[in-house]
Amino acid sequence: MISILAIESSCDETAASVCRDKIILSNVISSQKIHEKYGGVVPELASRAHLQSIVPVVDQALEIAGLKLKDIDAFAFTQSPGLIGALLVGAEFAKSLSLAFDKPLIAVQHMQAHVLANLIQPVNGENKIPSFPFLCLTVSGGHTQIVVCESPLQQKIIGQTLDDAAGEAFDKSAKILGLPYPGGPLIDKYAKSGDPHKYHFPEPKIDALDFSFSGLKTAFLYFIRDNKLTNPHFLEENIADICASIQARIVSILLNKLKKAAEQTGIKDVCIAGGVSANSGLRTEFEKTGKEEGWNTFIPKFEYCTDNAAMIAITAYYKYLDSQFEDLAVVPSARTA
Ligand code: KG4
Ligand code: ZN
Repeated sequence: MISILAIESSCDETAASVCRDKIILSNVISSQKIHEKYGGVVPELASRAHLQSIVPVVDQALEIAGLKLKDIDAFAFTQSPGLIGALLVGAEFAKSLSLAFDKPLIAVQHMQAHVLANLIQPVNGENKIPSFPFLCLTVSGGHTQIVVCESPLQQKIIGQTLDDAAGEAFDKSAKILGLPYPGGPLIDKYAKSGDPHKYHFPEPKIDALDFSFSGLKTAFLYFIRDNKLTNPHFLEENIADICASIQARIVSILLNKLKKAAEQTGIKDVCIAGGVSANSGLRTEFEKTGKEEGWNTFIPKFEYCTDNAAMIAITAYYKYLDSQFEDLAVVPSARTA
């Protein structure tokens, strides 16, 4: 049995998790509230908040797992991509522990980890996990990718966004509606009581398996502006239908490409991952599409969709088995390393 302590600090969540092999013993996440009033993540404030939270978050993760630092077999951290100052906090913390306890250090790529959240072993065996090769639609605040996962550490990107990420499409639409950051979960909330067929937004014609969301954002901006000109109360009167309709379009753009990817590859085990996979519209439509297409569908538990350290821990577990260790000279990188 291998116990790993993993740290995630790529953006505005300070998170720590302990796994024992593929089982997650603890998954602690401290979300930074400080950014709300700025309408987006402020990098310098994120780094400072990570510094404040990292000790209590790691302490709590160990306590919940019932382990001490001396029981840990390896220390893992998110190396890339992310905000460089934020990544540095987690990286240096993990390095210090690795040095102090003379245990291996493991560097993890955040997007690869989102995909592997689907491999986290359920404690009571109620969930199933996908078999290789599987397809994964990874949708987060910074990325939108379709990945063929051939083995835990072999992932091939076969489609990605050419401009905005799916999470940005949600957050920017929310901003146009005057909702606070991050707006994705709020659009999800309002959409629950709205009619997804009330308003129609364009689906971009993009080749291959790539995505584009910038045209949709512009169409949405003009749609809201024009309707507000004719009815100043348009937003308040129709917020649920507006949210349901824009959400339905983002979801259909994502799932149409995923269907195309499944047809092209012939792969039937299909997953979703990343912050946007917490969206209830996407989760429902994904399951529905899966039934129609004869897929075996997989969605990580809610807490493993948005940024978390459990996904870093499970990825580190596979890297440990493959002896993929780093020395103390390893540095984080803002771009995918
Ligand atoms: O994976 P994640 O937590 O962080 C990144 O790696 O970027 O994803 C964050 C993104 C944000 O854009 C946020 O608005 C979106 O995920 N998100 C959602 C929902 N929950 C989080 N978007 C739509 N509906 C949700 N329920
Ligand atoms: Zn993420």
